[in-house]
Amino acid sequence: MTPKPPSKVELAKRHGRHLRGTIGETLASDATHFGHDDLQLLKFHGTYQQDDRDLRRGREDGEEKAWRFMVRVAIPAGAVTAEQYLALDDLADRHGNGTLRVTTRQGFQFHGVLKGDLKATIAGINRTLLTTISACGDVQRNVMGCAAPLGDADHAEVRRVAEALARELRPGSRAYHEIWLDGEKQVSTEAEEPFYGEHYLPRKFKAAVGLSTDNCVDIWAQDVGLLGVLDQGRMTGFNLLVGGGLGMTHNKGDTTARLATPLGFVAPEHGLEAVRLVAAIFRDHGNRSDRRHARLKYLLAEWGIERFRAEFVSRASFPLLPPVPLPRLPFHDHLGRHRQADGRWFYGVFVQSGRILDDSSHRLRTALREIVDRVRPGIRLTAQQNLLLTDLDAAALDQVEATLRAHGVTPALELSAVRRYSVACPALPTCGLAVAESERAIPGLLDQLEAELETLGLRHEPLTVRMTGCPNGCARPYTADIAFVGRSLGLYHVYVGGGLAGDRLVDLYRADVPMEEIVDTLRPLLQRWAAERNPGEGLGDFYQRLMGLRAVRSTVTGRELPTIDQFPLVVAR
Ligand code: HEM
Ligand code: SF4
Repeated sequence: MTPKPPSKVELAKRHGRHLRGTIGETLASDATHFGHDDLQLLKFHGTYQQDDRDLRRGREDGEEKAWRFMVRVAIPAGAVTAEQYLALDDLADRHGNGTLRVTTRQGFQFHGVLKGDLKATIAGINRTLLTTISACGDVQRNVMGCAAPLGDADHAEVRRVAEALARELRPGSRAYHEIWLDGEKQVSTEAEEPFYGEHYLPRKFKAAVGLSTDNCVDIWAQDVGLLGVLDQGRMTGFNLLVGGGLGMTHNKGDTTARLATPLGFVAPEHGLEAVRLVAAIFRDHGNRSDRRHARLKYLLAEWGIERFRAEFVSRASFPLLPPVPLPRLPFHDHLGRHRQADGRWFYGVFVQSGRILDDSSHRLRTALREIVDRVRPGIRLTAQQNLLLTDLDAAALDQVEATLRAHGVTPALELSAVRRYSVACPALPTCGLAVAESERAIPGLLDQLEAELETLGLRHEPLTVRMTGCPNGCARPYTADIAFVGRSLGLYHVYVGGGLAGDRLVDLYRADVPMEEIVDTLRPLLQRWAAERNPGEGLGDFYQRLMGLRAVRSTVTGRELPTIDQFPLVVAR
């Protein structure tokens, strides 16, 4: 069989001289925007070229789009200092749209940056000792890590490994320094990228480090996961999981969401090398002709776990043991007040869809700036798009809550569960791939769902609702209790059956539901959940029990739930 030709993005990478392309020249020129190859390379530098889609409609024929840039900061395990936070907040005013956005991978995003401000934005971020390199692009993306700043040795180790991994697989190219930081121009050489070579990875590669006490990083949704196994309070090593990934394409049955599969167990000192080996197998064997099939999960589907394991073992200089069986992982969002190991406190603040902004009713951005300026806490970003303020003494804790209230921000524990656990992607007007609203639509939808759940006495029952403006799945919809995935303007596929534990994929519950019918569509299921649930049974678990079609996939033990009668509603499958 003749090998398939490389995709256009592959060619852009190969011709890009290690991420240089003509980015520097276009940046310095009067051109309003970048061409195809450069904008592929720009992603590796942490920025997406977009246009304001709200302004598209009023445009005359042939008129330029309103070009804007999204800039993403990669923050391993989501940890930033007070000084870094204040500097980013300042940059959002000077060069962005006056908001900061906490992402579902524990990073920050700026929106609405003009081409003329791009260099100042990226340089400004670097001055804070943070970086945008490899926040996007076909490389290892921001490395996630359990954000709970409990201050114990295991959480400290999670953070250390996440940061070490980020350093280990960061692109080596000097292009970033040349373009954004006025570094001396160099000729690209092979030695620049000893790991990635000239064509980097076939596509993005997502890694997370978690602990068996808490799945706050959605470990099953990652290309590779290191799950720290705790035995009698001590971390004995990592279960290594491979091949998770949530993106898919509507009407393309050969694209699917997949949960990661346990590959084995490695000693703590081999975690980093294990991830490097998985990335190397992906680099060498991933699909480079069809980007829709270029994720690690498709290689796993093609090879099967045994072949993948054999390849891994043949490359490894350390033992790969069988994965340690674990009970179902708990999940914590870390909101509210919590004690750290050193006796101090941290305080988790809910951020609707991750967007830190001031609006007429609540001034979260002002409140956070005031708190961070006065109290100088540590800051952690969570995979639920929320923010934790750390290292607080008891007096500061009260001050934090009082400041939030004074600015109209409700403490997380007073919110309904459906709001507290909600997640939404940005979608319109910034994302070029959005076919429907998400971040702008979810508050109204949550109001309706909240009213419905309140009536049913379910206000405090944990329930994760996630929404995206297209099937790519940036808000991890396919592991939620309920997910709304955009099909076209005002129309959504409704999925149910995942849950906070993140260890099970959803089912398609109803196809193509108009926004105004979403709550009506869900009502019968919510009513039955209210009437028939077992104590503590989440909606997704309840749905699966009713369906009786699929076992709750306990992460490793494979424990099954009892089969009962078919769910009486017509369920699209
Ligand atoms: C598979 C195809 C995917 C494509 C082409 C894609 C593309 C994009 C684009 C263009 C944005 C920028 C939107 C904006 O801020 O205006 C974005 C945001 C983001 N994406 Fe994706 N994405 C994909 C899948 C995923 C998946 C599966 C995840 C994680 C599970 C993810 C994580 C993120 C995150 C963290 C953001 C930042 C905003 C947020 O927190 O929602 N992406 N993506
Ligand atoms: S899920 Fe789709 S619409 Fe939402 S940010 Fe990702 S790519 Fe854009």
